[in-house]
Amino acid sequence: MNTLYNRDLLCTQDWTVDEIERTLELAFDFKARRFDHPLNNCLDRRTFFMFFYNPSVRTRQSFECAATELGGHAQFLEPRSMRLKSAKTAGETVQDAANVMSRYACGIGIRVLETALEYYGQGHELLEEYARWASVPVISMAHDRFHPCQGLADIMGMRMHAGRDPRGKKLLQVWAQGALVRSWCSVQESILINTRLGTDVTLAYPEGYDLDPEVMRWCEENAEESGGRFEVVHDLEEGYRRADFVYSRNWMTSGFYDTARERGVEAAKQREIGLAARHEDWTCTSEWMSLTNDAYFMHCGPVDRGAEVTDEVCDGPRSIVYDIAESRLHVQKAVMALTMAVR
Ligand code: CP
Repeated sequence: MNTLYNRDLLCTQDWTVDEIERTLELAFDFKARRFDHPLNNCLDRRTFFMFFYNPSVRTRQSFECAATELGGHAQFLEPRSMRLKSAKTAGETVQDAANVMSRYACGIGIRVLETALEYYGQGHELLEEYARWASVPVISMAHDRFHPCQGLADIMGMRMHAGRDPRGKKLLQVWAQGALVRSWCSVQESILINTRLGTDVTLAYPEGYDLDPEVMRWCEENAEESGGRFEVVHDLEEGYRRADFVYSRNWMTSGFYDTARERGVEAAKQREIGLAARHEDWTCTSEWMSLTNDAYFMHCGPVDRGAEVTDEVCDGPRSIVYDIAESRLHVQKAVMALTMAVR
């Protein structure tokens, strides 16, 4: 029996390790037999709704390709064309929208990030509300807390190069300066799934960039259970030393939402850019990479070149950024097949 059939995916933490492994195994199968896999028609004539509050390159394109390759169709939706109720406007409730959407589609993907939200956690609440009323699976396509499909793709990319056994391998998840103000979802998903699967995770960031305390606690519990390690450092040299993977990415301070509420989203972005610019050492360079165990460079994209990482590292022989981007397609085919088709 497939325990993932008709299940939501808001965070990989909600799935068992066996369910995550099953998904990754199927993703590797889909990669190996991209156009002649026996499940390639499992969404024959079915539609997956992709509901985007925020823009995307990889997520929209990879989900659309995934639906096509499974014999179905992915329909792009935006809230501005849907007349939905919000704190400021009258309109249709989530209850009604989710029920109606479930009568048409085999699954509902939702992306909602900080610029569409008033406080941290509101996006997760929205996805939970859709999941409550929808009778088809609700899949996060990145929201304020988590980005599960990205986390699965990160692991697939890592395994393509370093094998399946993460024991003893060190992932440095490192904050980076940048002008693209980033939410916490990709970073939090990465440290959760990696501690869950037994990777030794070092999270490095300058003072003031703390992430969600509940996620930190889950990472500690995950590491204890999996036999991996989880540590937080504020020193770059300590972070880079002996790393096997380096994932360098900007994220915003927790003050973003307050500033956005008080002074608007643009002012909040400018404040974050100004704060980040104070940490000019926090760019992944060849010099920092020379301290590692010849580490692979990872990034979920879009990359802020020259800020999060130099071109030399991002285009270098140890960069796996495009493999990770490609993996989005395979893991999402696996997620769709297992939650929406295979009973
Ligand atoms: N990594 C990721 O989700 O990319 P997009 O924002 O381009 O979809």
